Formats: sequence, structure tokens, C-alpha cells
Amino acid sequence: MEKLKQIGNPLSRLEGVQKVTGSAKYSGEYNVPNLLQGYIVNSTITKGKIIEIDEKAARSLKGVIEIFSHKKRPKLAWFDIMYSDMDAPQGVPLKPLYNDEIFYNGQPIALVVAETFEIARYAASLIVVKYEEETFKTDLITNLDLARPPKKGLLQLIMPTPEIKRGDFDKSYSNSNSQYQGQFIHQEQHHNPLELFATTTVYEGDGKITVYDKTQGTNNCQVYIGNVFGLHYKDVRVISTYVGGGFGSGLRPQYQVFMSVMASIALKRNVRVTMDRAQMFTFGYRPKSVQNTKFATDKDGKVVALYHQALCETSQYEDYSENIVNWGNILYPAENTKTDYQLVPLDNSSPLDMRAPGGSTAMHAIESTIDQLSYQNNIDPLEFRILNYSERDVSTDKPFSSKELMQCYLQGADKFGWNDRNPAPRSTKRGKRLVGTGMSSGIWEVMTIPTRASAEIDAEGKLTVKSAVTDIGTGTLTVMTQIASDSMGVDIEDVNFIYGDSSLPLSPIQGGSYTTGILGSAVKAACNKLQKTLFKIAKKMDNSPFLSSKFQDVEFQGAEIFLKNDNSKKIAFVDIVAFNGGKNIKEKKFNSLNNSKKKKYTSAAHSAAFVEVEVDEELGVITVTRALTAVAAGKIINPKTAASQIKGGMIWGISKVLFEETLTDHNFGRHLNTNLGEYHIPTHADVHQLDVIFVEEKDEIINELGIKGVGEIGLCSMSPAIANAIYHATGKRMNNLPIHFNELI
Ligand code: MOS
Repeated sequence: MEKLKQIGNPLSRLEGVQKVTGSAKYSGEYNVPNLLQGYIVNSTITKGKIIEIDEKAARSLKGVIEIFSHKKRPKLAWFDIMYSDMDAPQGVPLKPLYNDEIFYNGQPIALVVAETFEIARYAASLIVVKYEEETFKTDLITNLDLARPPKKGLLQLIMPTPEIKRGDFDKSYSNSNSQYQGQFIHQEQHHNPLELFATTTVYEGDGKITVYDKTQGTNNCQVYIGNVFGLHYKDVRVISTYVGGGFGSGLRPQYQVFMSVMASIALKRNVRVTMDRAQMFTFGYRPKSVQNTKFATDKDGKVVALYHQALCETSQYEDYSENIVNWGNILYPAENTKTDYQLVPLDNSSPLDMRAPGGSTAMHAIESTIDQLSYQNNIDPLEFRILNYSERDVSTDKPFSSKELMQCYLQGADKFGWNDRNPAPRSTKRGKRLVGTGMSSGIWEVMTIPTRASAEIDAEGKLTVKSAVTDIGTGTLTVMTQIASDSMGVDIEDVNFIYGDSSLPLSPIQGGSYTTGILGSAVKAACNKLQKTLFKIAKKMDNSPFLSSKFQDVEFQGAEIFLKNDNSKKIAFVDIVAFNGGKNIKEKKFNSLNNSKKKKYTSAAHSAAFVEVEVDEELGVITVTRALTAVAAGKIINPKTAASQIKGGMIWGISKVLFEETLTDHNFGRHLNTNLGEYHIPTHADVHQLDVIFVEEKDEIINELGIKGVGEIGLCSMSPAIANAIYHATGKRMNNLPIHFNELI
């Protein structure tokens, strides 16, 4: 019988119409009755103490209900216990309104609650705060002497150690045939999803609250709120159905969650707290970084020595660290390798994972250095990477569970027309503009975390699958519906995936590109278990055709169970549920972790990006005229939503190289361009032809469905490919990002 095939079907996203017509409700749009509105006051100094908060004028405004600050806040469980959320780095998370101490400019110091948002915001502007200011340090570049290794914590135990030492780097480097030493400085970036952070807390009474929050993890927020406010987890329900972009900013509960819940409990009212765009710059960002590389080759062009150092900013209260220097050896197995990773604690807020954290930072340095060496060796950049291709992860001495990067190179180059280029830099012109092509490899790890799903069949034979997971715009709703449809043998119109609610089966935060792999496996496992249960019941039914059959003898399709060798023998799910007294039949299952087997392998998604740029040296304008990314990420469930993920990453790559940076006035320790007018990102006019191809890749180790995930891999290879294309066009190595026009002219 023809099998249903939803896996592999380029289905349009199921919630697309709701999103583009405005009927999708975001967390700041739940208009519950008698809703109060909060507005947060942020510190205007960078370091010091609050001496006085003059609330007189604000309190005299009609409609102001309450003003909270460290001087007036409810007693909270938070301050009695050690607590970290699921994504907290080593250190002590910021405790809003804890005391008079200021750690960074923009730190939340008070909350005004009023009848309307406008009154709350106006009242907030009337509050006068007196501070005692201290001297501060916010600039990474002028404080590199403060660099030190990250403090070791629980998280660091499971992360690869950032100090690798293989062979004798110094000796090998100085004795080698060809060397390149590069320094790469990347500016800070803030996530800036379109949807602003907002929390609507509904006070249910009896110690219960329902919280509509913009978050990447409903269970993470639920546990955070439970711990901070001393509530039973079951009395805290966090709902996050639609999320207007996360990119990492919602991995941790942000301070508006705290403010909204605190005010709601204290006032026994429904309270919403929304951030404005400028406040989106007062927490979490991709840290500014300085990377130093030294790679060298032997006379055949083989990379024999590799040094990679990264120095990144963090806050004074948490050691945010990311994996930057561990990637070099996984891609390029140099016998002599040395790495170094250090943090510079500054008077800034803590950095936070941003799409491909670490990996996208690292890849620009690694792939620019590799690219430079290819030119120095007179070898085509693609040939050079193939020459240095690694079939084994030498950094851990393990095989890859699968690695089709070679196919990404070959198929990508073919489709892009890589061989049409004149290899010499500055050799190609289109009118007055220089034209260049460049390419790069990309790599991103595959992670496995426990997650759970339930699956149930109702009296109409319809399937409902549930998980607490959020869909941050990645297409989770759509791909889980597809996986459930195939796994259970129920037509896709009859599958309902319910998600974004902490009361549903446990889910980790959506991030790290792992959601489709881990949750897809849990959904499949729950459906398989449910099939077995249905079959068991079907065997007991009167005149069951399966009386002497085993589970292996049947298949499931169109909400019916068939005998494989005689499909006239069948029982419909509706009849099984009717036999069950009309009660839904339900099963739950965790994904299988299979850790002992996985530990023997390195698992990663790979990509290869090919880019063409035009450079106008008179005006200092760079245009990415076309780009193609070839991706090996295991099984692709939905080529349409997956390609959208990759294109999003490619556009971010354009952003990283040509546009995006948070500017800070270090005299004041304050960000300058805290709005979307001055925080530059690509517009439609900056984005030209983008193509994505997925190469076949079978992986039987990572999970039952062979899924690696595509959320981050599209970004990793894109920015270095652009920088390498600019080198080919101009002969100039662009090591600092973003590139400013004056560096070209
Ligand atoms: Mo992503 S930075 O794991 O949300």
C-alpha cells in the first residue's frame, strides 16, 4: 500500500495565515479583564548605588496604582535560595530590585504600575533617581589586560574544554612553509526580534497564576517563576503560543517576567509589563570579541599548525561563555594545535546566546584564515578545503556519526558555478564595480536533551499530539504535525499539535537547533507506543482480524490498522476508541537519549556557502549579489520551512558582515543606537538571490529520524564566505565586522 509521506513534504507553515492576518495573539495582546499596565524604569548610570528614588510626582498622577523598587518590593523566595534558569551561565543571575547596587547602564530599578500603559510610561518619566556614581569599564578593547579564563561551573563540565594542546604548535608554526596570522574584532549585536518582550500575568487567586510570556521555554519560565516567588510549579502556568522571533533572547526569562509576576502577586491583579525597543538593549547580546589566529601549512598545502584564541566580554556577575575555539580542529585536523579562550568581565549586562553562539563568531576567523592560506599556497579555496578535509574528528579522536560536507562542497560549487571564476584577486569587474566570489565551510553541533510528547486518539479517530515546546517561528508546529501524521498513520488534516503551554508534556527551551531532532523523536516514540496500545485493544475486539497477528504484521494508515499481507483485514481507530467506551486512548513518551552509543561519535551539521559580491570602491558599497548554501543536516522534514531557516541565517550573515552592531559611548557606558532606525539590519533592497540546497545525509546514530536541525547552520558559513568574496574582489582581508565603508575606499 502507498505510504503517506508527510516527512519530506514542503508544506507551508500551518499558522501562516494567523500570523500574517494578525489573528495570532502574542503575549502582550491577551486583553484579560481589569488589566493593569507596568512600565520599567532603567538605570541611567553604569556603576554605583541608588541614593534616593523620588516618586512624589509620579505617585500624584491619577491612574498610578503602585511603584515598586528595591525599597518597596514584596518578600520573595528568590533571595533565600540559590537559583539558575536552564540557560544561566556560571555566576549569580541579575536579581531585579534586589538592592541599591547598579551593575550596568539600563539595569531595571523600578516598576510603575498604572491603569494604562501611557500613564505608567509618563509616570516613569517623572521619577527622579539620585545615584552615587563609580568609575566603570565597558570597553573590551581597552580592557583586554583583564582577560582571564572562565570560572568553572556545572555548565563547563559538560562543555568541551576550551584549552586544546596537541603536538608542538610553536615549533611547527615557525618551521612551516606558509603562515597567516589574523586578528578579528567583532562588535556587539543585540537580538532584536520584531516582537518586543512582554508578559501578561493573570491573577487566578488561590496562589495560582497564568502567565502569557514571550519565551523560548514555557517550562523554563514556569520553574523560574515557581522558584523565585515560592509558588508550587503546578500553580504556575506559562503560555507562549506565538513567538515573534527569539534568536536566543528568550532562552532565559527576562526581567519583564519578574516585574509582571511580582506586581500581579503583590496587587492581586492582572498585570502586563511590556518593554519598548530601547529596553530590548538592556539585557542579553552577542558579546564583542577579539580573536587571534595563526595557521600554517606544509609545502603540500596541508594545515599543520593551528592556533585560535578568543577574548570575549562578559558581565561582572555572570561568566557567559561560548564554544569558539573548539571548532578549528574538528574541521581541520592540524597535528599541532593550541587554543585559548578568556573572558573580560566588564560593567555591562550579561551576554546571551544569539543564533549560532560561538560557532558563527569562530567560523569567520577560522574560514578567513584558511581562505588566506589557500591564496598563499596558490590553491583554489575549494580545492584547499578538500585537501584538508577530515573524515574523523581528531579533536576528540572519534568518527562522525555522518558527515556529508564533501557533498556540500561539490554540489554547492556545481550549482553556484564556482569554477567560472578567475582565481586572481581584483581580476573581475562589472562596469566600475569589482566582482568577487568566496566560499566557506560551516559546522554546528547536534545536541540531545530529554523531552516528552503525548499522543492520543479521540472518538473521531483524530490524533492530538502535545508538548510544552514553543515555536519561535522555526516551523515546529508544522514539522511536528508532519512527523506525527507519518508516525501514527493519520492524515495530516486529522492531526492536531498542541504546544506552547507549560502544563503540557515537559520540553526544554527551544534553541541550539535541537528541537526538531529531540521532539520529533519523542513524537514518533509516543505515536509508536500509542499504535501498540491501539493494536492490543484491537486484538480484543469481537471478530478481530488480528487475533493471531503480531504487531509486526500490521501497518497504520488513514487512521486504520491493516494486516500487511491482506489489507482488506482492518480496524478503524474510531472503532477501537468506541470499543474503549468512547474514551480517548493516550500514551506519553520521552525521546530516547542513547547516550552510550552517541558518545562514540561526533555529531554535527555542516554547510558550505558560496557568495558573489560586487564592491564599489568609490562609494565604499558592498552588495551580496547572489549566494548559495549547501547544507548537510541529516533528514530534512520540511524542505520549505528548513530552507527558510537557512535563508534567515544567510541574511543574518549579510547583516553581520555589512550592517549590524550595537554602538556604545564608553564615556557613559551607554548604548547609542537603541532603535531599529540606527541599529542597522538588511532591508529587502540589501537581499538578492539566495539559494539553498540540502544534500542527502543518512545518520542512524543521532536519533530515530536522523534529524540534525537547521536553525543555526545557515549562519555559520555565510559571513566568512562574504568576507572571502570581498577579498577575491578587492584583495583586502576584512577581519573586523561589521565592515565600514571607509575601510574600502
Ligand atoms: Mo538559539 S541562540 O539556541 O535560540
